[in-house]
Amino acid sequence: MSPPIQGFSKLSKEEKIEWIAGRFTDNSEETKKVLKRYWNPDTKLQQLHDEFIENTISNYYLPLGIAPNFLINGKLYAIPMAIEESSVVAAASKSAKFWIERGGFRARVLGTEKIGQVHFTYQGNFGKLQEFIAEITPILHADVADLTSNMVKRGGGITAIILKDRTRAMDHYYQLHCTFQTSNAMGANFINSCLEQFARTLQREAENHRNFNKRERKLEVLMSILSNYVPGCLVRAEVECPVQLLGKQGEMEAPEFAAKMVQAVAIANADRYRAVTHNKGIMNGIDSVVMATGNDFRAVEAGVHAYASKDGTYTSLSHAELVEGNFHFWLEVPLALGTVGGLTNLHPMVQLSLDILQNPSAPELMQIVAVAGLAQNFAALRSLVNTGIQQGHMKMHLLNILNQLLVTSEERIILLQEFEDRPVSYRAVKTALERLRPSP
Ligand code: MEV
Repeated sequence: MSPPIQGFSKLSKEEKIEWIAGRFTDNSEETKKVLKRYWNPDTKLQQLHDEFIENTISNYYLPLGIAPNFLINGKLYAIPMAIEESSVVAAASKSAKFWIERGGFRARVLGTEKIGQVHFTYQGNFGKLQEFIAEITPILHADVADLTSNMVKRGGGITAIILKDRTRAMDHYYQLHCTFQTSNAMGANFINSCLEQFARTLQREAENHRNFNKRERKLEVLMSILSNYVPGCLVRAEVECPVQLLGKQGEMEAPEFAAKMVQAVAIANADRYRAVTHNKGIMNGIDSVVMATGNDFRAVEAGVHAYASKDGTYTSLSHAELVEGNFHFWLEVPLALGTVGGLTNLHPMVQLSLDILQNPSAPELMQIVAVAGLAQNFAALRSLVNTGIQQGHMKMHLLNILNQLLVTSEERIILLQEFEDRPVSYRAVKTALERLRPSP
């Protein structure tokens, strides 16, 4: 085993590639070729991408697709989606087309509150701590005035600083639980900067507080960080139509289809194994728009799944009901998104995606993303209760199989035609290809 490398980040990009290719891959020349093939020939653009993270050696492509015809609150959108899974964009497009003929999607933001916490320990009288926090609250605000002034101009800022007694969870543990409005920014940097200043102010003021004894003055901040659990930053997306308008679905009449859709959601509510997959389908739609618009999909994933278990059991994020002959299908998800700051100002494809979406505000983007999640869920359930998903999924996957089998363009045309009305599987396509090729 070769020894660990020192100072890897200080090497040039070429040196990093040389090292990684030589030490960790079987064919170092091929590795170098592959990595460099993915460099952008525009050196300035490549440098921009190199500097997003540390130790960049190449780019990692994902397809950017468009799902057109999304009617949301009466406005027409074409939604950009960055995702590798073959059938997601097709499924979203199908749902959009289905619902545009039935009045489209409605979406509404229920809240835009973000949360951050200063976690600290304090050994002393709780009443004295409460008085202390009340007394220093104006100082906490004053100390972050420089950080908040721009945000306040944009309609955001700090909306509350609350002391929480968490000593039941852990000895001497308290929090400053702070809420923020961050306008069109996701706000992570803003929130974390404010919190770190709160921490410094808290510690400084505690050390000098006249009512504290020696032990109480030793208030100790452990960490200050935003929370990705944002149940107050919530959006609702929905569709509704008379059951009869759902139309015949395959062999099923509309009422049977509607009842099966409601049952499908009920199963996701009753069974955790199903709930996770059900919600994964929703995240197919959500993540791909979150990625295309340069937002933090890990933050969204973490927050959404925590929300799915907010009542103590992990359940479906979507809901369905039949009321007075109407089919109603909806979704509520917490989404902390931004349309300014971060990658949105830097990544040309992110800027383009936002442009395609007609430069939405953060609340508008929340609505679009939630609708993409609902559309994806509708498409998945519609297939699942009908033909199953493999038919559509494998159809979309056919191109991947053809690429894997290195077919020629002539073979591709013949095979695409052949599998137009035949079930697709790797084996079936391989057999058909072998039949096409003359045996040696
Ligand atoms: C596949 O990526 C997503 C589905 O499994 C979602 C679902 O089962 O609802 C089709």
